[in-house]
Amino acid sequence: MIMIKMSLVIDNLKEAIIGESIAKRKYELFSENAIKENQNEIAHIFRAVSSAEEIHIKNHLKALSIISKISIEQIKTELLEDIHYDINKNNNTISNLEDAIKGENYESKVMYKNFEKNALNNKNNLAELSFSLARKAEKIHAKIFSNYLRELKKNRPINAKKIYICKICGNVEFGNPPAKCPICDHSSKFFKEIM
Ligand SMILES: [Fe+2]
Ligand SMILES: [Fe+2]
Repeated sequence: MIMIKMSLVIDNLKEAIIGESIAKRKYELFSENAIKENQNEIAHIFRAVSSAEEIHIKNHLKALSIISKISIEQIKTELLEDIHYDINKNNNTISNLEDAIKGENYESKVMYKNFEKNALNNKNNLAELSFSLARKAEKIHAKIFSNYLRELKKNRPINAKKIYICKICGNVEFGNPPAKCPICDHSSKFFKEIM
C-alpha cells in the first residue's frame, strides 16, 4: 500500500517536471513572439516567468532525485529528452497571455493542489514543499499575466519596470526585491533580477 502511494508521489513529481519544462520553453517562445510585436515589457515578463518555472523544475528534480535515489542527470535524460516544444503558428501576444493564464490557473488550482494532497497523505515533506512553493508561485504568475492582458486589451502602455524572481520559490516581484519573500520567507538576497 505504501509502495503504491509512494509511486503516486514519484509520478506526480515526474508530471510536474515535464509540465514545468514545457511551460518554461513555451514562455521563451512567447517572449520572442512579443518582441516581434514590439511588446517589450510583455517579452520581459515572459522571460521572468520562464526563469521562475526553471526554479520549480530544479526543486522538483532535487526532490525526485532524493526520493527515488536516481541522479538528477539521469532523471533529466529519461524525462526530458524526447519532449517536443512547439507553439501554434497563428498565435499572438494576446492569445499567448490567455494560454499562459490558463496553464498557470490549471497548475495552481488543480494540478499542484492534488499533488500536494497526495504528498501530504504519503507524509512526503520534500515533495509537499516543492509542490506547495510552486502552487503559490503559479497563482501569482496567473495574476501577473492577467494584469498584463487587461492592460494590453485596453491598449494602455505597459511601463518598463525591474523584475525580480525568488531563486527559492519562483515568486515574481516588481521594482525592488521584498525584504522577505511572501511565499518562502527568504530574504531579498535570494532574489535575482531578470533583464
Ligand atoms: Fe508559473
Ligand atoms: Fe521565495
